[in-house]
Amino acid sequence: MREEHAASLTGAGSQTDRQAASVGVIGLGYVGLPFALAFVRSGIRVTGIEVDGRKLQMLRGAKSYIQDISNEELEAAIFSGGLTVSDDYSLLATMEAVVLCVPTPLTEDHAPDLSYVSDTCRSLRPFLREGQLVVLESTTYPGTTKEIVRPLLEQSGLQAGVQFHLAYSPERIDPGNQSYTVEEVPKIVSGLTASCLNRVADLYGRVFRQVVPVSSTDSAEAAKLLENSFRLINISFMNEFAMLCDQLGVNVWEVIEAADTKPYGFHAFYPGPGIGGHCIPVDPLYLQWKARQSGTDSRFIELSKDMNDTMPDYIAGRIERLLQPGKKLAGASILLCGVTYKKDVADMRESSALPLMRMLILAGASVQYYDPYVPSVRLEDAGILHGVDLTDEVLAGADCVVIHTNHSSLPIERIVMKAALIYDTRNATRGLRGSGRLERFGDGTTG
Ligand SMILES: NC(=O)c1ccc[n+]([C@@H]2O[C@H](COP(=O)([O-])OP(=O)(O)OC[C@H]3O[C@@H](n4cnc5c(N)ncnc54)[C@H](O)[C@@H]3O)[C@@H](O)[C@H]2O)c1
Repeated sequence: MREEHAASLTGAGSQTDRQAASVGVIGLGYVGLPFALAFVRSGIRVTGIEVDGRKLQMLRGAKSYIQDISNEELEAAIFSGGLTVSDDYSLLATMEAVVLCVPTPLTEDHAPDLSYVSDTCRSLRPFLREGQLVVLESTTYPGTTKEIVRPLLEQSGLQAGVQFHLAYSPERIDPGNQSYTVEEVPKIVSGLTASCLNRVADLYGRVFRQVVPVSSTDSAEAAKLLENSFRLINISFMNEFAMLCDQLGVNVWEVIEAADTKPYGFHAFYPGPGIGGHCIPVDPLYLQWKARQSGTDSRFIELSKDMNDTMPDYIAGRIERLLQPGKKLAGASILLCGVTYKKDVADMRESSALPLMRMLILAGASVQYYDPYVPSVRLEDAGILHGVDLTDEVLAGADCVVIHTNHSSLPIERIVMKAALIYDTRNATRGLRGSGRLERFGDGTTG
């Protein structure tokens, strides 16, 4: 039964939240730092807690390690006193609200790893005080807020929904996306009780243009997993469809463009060399795990994961087929352009370039890469690679140039002019003709 006796707490719309809100943000990574700065922009004082000493040092020197955040913005936030950073959890005792933005990765056997969330709750517990609002932002399976966060925090002796408010609000940030500011993306909010929901809606309503209340923390947790599973499943389907187009001699890029003219009932997704990042390949497995715990399964997620796992193999196979007749991967020189998991970000987490480069190296190819965002890459069993400059000589010297990530800054026209053979996995060369051979993933030119 939901508890509704939180009247004694600092309630929704209180003077405290309106006038003197101070928020603690735990975990200042891709999510936590932009989130903290959005609160600062709204005039709310933020204390950020971060355990990574290197990040803390950079923050104190107003040096940003997140591409979407400029040093100038950070400097203004830090030197105005809007943002304080520390590794000292005791500072959270004076905050009105504390928001958890810590990682939720997978264990080695692909189960949810909630150790960061649990550790954070244990560290916060001694400093939790009556009247505070605690919000979990990390992506996780339905039930986490109630079944994991709540009991850990209640070991403080304070009861959730009675002496402190507990809420869940999934983070939807899209690193590298210039079209929407943090504040512009509608924010789903949920609470353990109606009073918890009102409290988080009130605070977040001061920062985000639109808050979207849902009836339970389970629903909010599931909504985030639906969003990301939807992407995984649809992009995986497009990758399968692109492979089919290769077989059928049909150009997938033209087909998508044509289908996308339908004003309703179609949403375009695009194929690529594999789905990466900390979210899309990871979050659906949280849902899959929860489904199995509940005695059921998600066949769509399973199939999509399998599909994604096969992508590096498919791309490596295409590269080998494209090489000069008689030439094998062993001894071939392959240059990857762009290695991050998506364009215009510096994030290598779960990037499909990692298994692809490893596979090519283990097959005997000589692999180089160019990526303005990535100075070096460590590959399991295959050593460390350092990025190269994209000179005309490097381009001309490669047996195959693979466009893996279509960063906006890639000099596509020069690549097309100088490379003898290009395999473009992203349609970055759309409309261009080079001096050498050019094949795009899914364009159906070689069957
Ligand atoms: N990166 C994205 O695009 C994105 C988008 C939406 C949601 N999410 C979700 O947001 C959550 C955070 O992801 P992220 O990408 O920001 O991760 P991240 O690794 O970039 O940042 C997490 C930060 O938390 C810090 N940290 C870990 N344990 C801590 C502790 N006990 N106390 C204080 N700090 C601690 C880490 O040092 C790190 O700086 C995850 O659940 C993720 O799935 C991420």
